[in-house]
Amino acid sequence: MTSAQLATGTLAPAVTAIRLSLHVLAATVWVGGQFTVLGLLPTVRGFGAEAPTLVARALARILWPAYAILVLTGIWNILAIGGPENSTWWIVLWVKIGVVLLAGASTLLHSKTKNRRAMAVWGAVAGLSSVVALVLGVFLAG
Ligand code: HEM
Repeated sequence: MTSAQLATGTLAPAVTAIRLSLHVLAATVWVGGQFTVLGLLPTVRGFGAEAPTLVARALARILWPAYAILVLTGIWNILAIGGPENSTWWIVLWVKIGVVLLAGASTLLHSKTKNRRAMAVWGAVAGLSSVVALVLGVFLAG
């Protein structure tokens, strides 16, 4: 949805709506999944020592498909938009791609490490970078 569309009250074409809805839906799962499980963690710990690991594994089965959909629909976004002349848009896009890679790498490190401190640090980096990617996406959509 561009600001011109908003100003005139024009609806987005159906294909654009599908493309952006898939991208935003995957973003809600990727970002919302992390924050929801973080919020549920104190309760999950009460279910036993193994419970957080089991929940983390189940979460991974939800998060990684969402990440794959974000990358695929992100590429679709770029192809659909074509080549905006605004160079700031491209800079923001490249910064966003870097932040998305950081979000993926830190989520992976968070899930692989056995060290509790490293787990907390990588978890925080994953959550923050995911939120930054989301905000940069909103800037890109204009
Ligand atoms: C953690 C991963 C990601 C998150 C949370 C995310 C989130 C978002 C959000 C919330 C929007 C705004 C949609 C709207 O307001 O309509 C957006 C737009 C966009 N994203 Fe992503 N995104 C991610 C990954 C990617 C990747 C990997 C790419 C490129 C390969 C990408 C390219 C774009 C583009 C080009 C737009 C603008 C779409 C348009 O204006 O039609 N995103 N993103």
